[in-house]
Formats: sequence, structure tokens, C-alpha cells
Amino acid sequence: VAHFSIQSNLKGKKILITGGPTYESIDPVRFIGNHSSGKTGVILADECANRGAAVTLVLGPSIHSPLNPAVNVIRVTTAADMFKVVQANWSDSSIGIFSAAVADYRPANMAIEKIKKKSDEMSIDLVKNPDILAWAGTQKTSKQYLVGFALETNNEIENARGKLDRKNLDLLVLNSLRDKNAGFGYDTNKVTFIKPNNILINFELKQKSLMAKDILNEIETDFTA
Ligand code: CTP
Ligand code: CA
Repeated sequence: VAHFSIQSNLKGKKILITGGPTYESIDPVRFIGNHSSGKTGVILADECANRGAAVTLVLGPSIHSPLNPAVNVIRVTTAADMFKVVQANWSDSSIGIFSAAVADYRPANMAIEKIKKKSDEMSIDLVKNPDILAWAGTQKTSKQYLVGFALETNNEIENARGKLDRKNLDLLVLNSLRDKNAGFGYDTNKVTFIKPNNILINFELKQKSLMAKDILNEIETDFTA
């Protein structure tokens, strides 16, 4: 359903969104991944496009796609691929909304052949992936607005505040797993917005599409460039 909001200050603005999981290959048939469905990134992309923004969605492996044909979807597999696309697009974007569940580590070496079963125990050496959001934070100018996500299981607010500061964000959307109908795989989320100057805004459990509207309303209010 189109939402033709002529008065949206996001109209014509370039918005860069990341979404979905990343898959990091172990060998030709196996990978390290996570349960992210990509729904949040896809819904955010649609909401931005419906408000007239020029949206690029960098999307990891997901069965979902935006409904709005105006969204430029760039599909990627690994964190390294996602990082390359973000590096090429962040400087001329006005707003970044990074919702991808990026794998923190990848196998140090991908085996060329399928790994055979041998001893009772085995391990895989991993190396850290680049933090894509943190990189965007280091490059951010005063005219850009950057949004990150966090999912915490303990010391939620404290950990989330740390991420807001460390990654130089304007808004951090903290996902609460406290509610049994919230988080991965569900269509509903319970979130808290965390902003600089100790600002906290709590929301009720709601559909992801309505959460996307809350996020975009917040950005519309803050974004003045
Ligand atoms: N993120 C990213 N690149 C990474 C890791 C995370 O862009 N390599 C982004 C996510 O898209 C999200 C935010 O950083 O917007 C927070 O991700 P999260 O996994 O909660 O934080 P981490 O910094 O990875 O810390 P940890 O997993 O140890 O809590
Ligand atoms: Ca992480």
C-alpha cells in the first residue's frame, strides 16, 4: 500500500539499508550463518521507498524481497561482499539503516573440497569480519544520519548504549528478546530507541511493519539536512 507523503523530508534522499544474515563458507557445501530472516531490512526498505526516498537495500541470503519496485536491491552472501557494497555507497547516502545480522567471524580458510568426517572432535579457525556499521560511523559527516540495531540478552541498555557511542550512531534500535513473540522469525518486535544524551524511548510489542514506521518517523523528526 503506497503512502504518498508529499511532505516527507525523506523524499528524494538516498537511504542505504543493510538486511538479512550473512553466510560465511566453510567448504563448498557448508557455511556459518544465523537465523535472521531479512524481514526487517525488507520492510524498512519498503517504508523508505513509500516515503519517496531513493533506497538501496544490501540484502544477505533471504527469501524476502521488497514490494516497492523502486527499491534497488543488491543481493550479497558474505560480510566481505556486504562491506564492499556499503563502502561504495555510504559517502553519497544521507541516511544509513544497518539491520543486517552480520556474522562476527568467518572461517580463516575456505576448504576447496568438501571436508571429510574424521576424528571425533574437530574445530575450525575463525577470523573477525569487518564491522560494517562501525566503519560507516567512522566515515559519517555531520550531514549524515546513521541507525544501528542491537539484540542483547543481558545488560541490554548498558550494552546498547556502548554500541551507540562506539559506532558513532544517531539512533540505536534495541530489540528485546524478553517477549516470547519478539525477535528472529517472528513478525513482531518489542524495541527501545536509544539516542545520544541518554534518551530512551520504549515501544510496545508490535508488527515489524509498524515498528518500521516508528523508526522512519523518528528519522524524519531528527533528520534536518
Ligand atoms: N554490524 C555490522 N557489521 C558487523 C557486525 C555488526 O554492520 N560485522 C552491525 C549490525 O548490522 C547492527 C549493529 O552492528 O546494526 C550491532 O550488531 P551486534 O551484533 O548487536 O553488535 P556487535 O558489535 O557485533 O557486538 P556483539 O555481537 O559482540 O554484541
Ligand atoms: Ca555481532
